[in-house]
Amino acid sequence: MSNPSQEPMAIPDEILDLLCKARQVAKRAYAPYSKFSVGAILVDREGREFHGCNVENASFGLTLCAERSAAVRAISEGSRNWSKIVIVSPSAVAPCGACRQFLIEFGLELDVWIGGLDESIPVRNVQLSTLLPNAISMTDLP
Ligand code: THU
Repeated sequence: MSNPSQEPMAIPDEILDLLCKARQVAKRAYAPYSKFSVGAILVDREGREFHGCNVENASFGLTLCAERSAAVRAISEGSRNWSKIVIVSPSAVAPCGACRQFLIEFGLELDVWIGGLDESIPVRNVQLSTLLPNAISMTDLP
């Protein structure tokens, strides 16, 4: 769903529900270093939900983002055909570059909804393929 008019967008009830759930998931984040809690809910085309939060590590480099945490959970449970991901964080950040590439492995057509931990932060909606144009994919490999 795009919103070229820049008019305030009506958020579907389903997305509002998922944003609420993602805010609960973010409470489980393990983020003692950044104190930046992120919650993500990946929804597949059968309507199944996979929840993820960020998990930090004293090594810093091993930190796992909420989006990849949700994706790994989905894959582990046999789900690869995803329709949307709803992500919340303190400042409503878009998925990092690593997460974009990780998610795009399983399809360009993922509807990304981004919101804040605080409900007053405006919600954004963008396609994953817009966030990561010209991504490397399986078809690029010999
Ligand atoms: N983080 C995510 O979980 N997802 C993102 O897309 C951006 C960043 C986490 C990683 C780290 O634990 C904290 O947010 C600060 O970067």
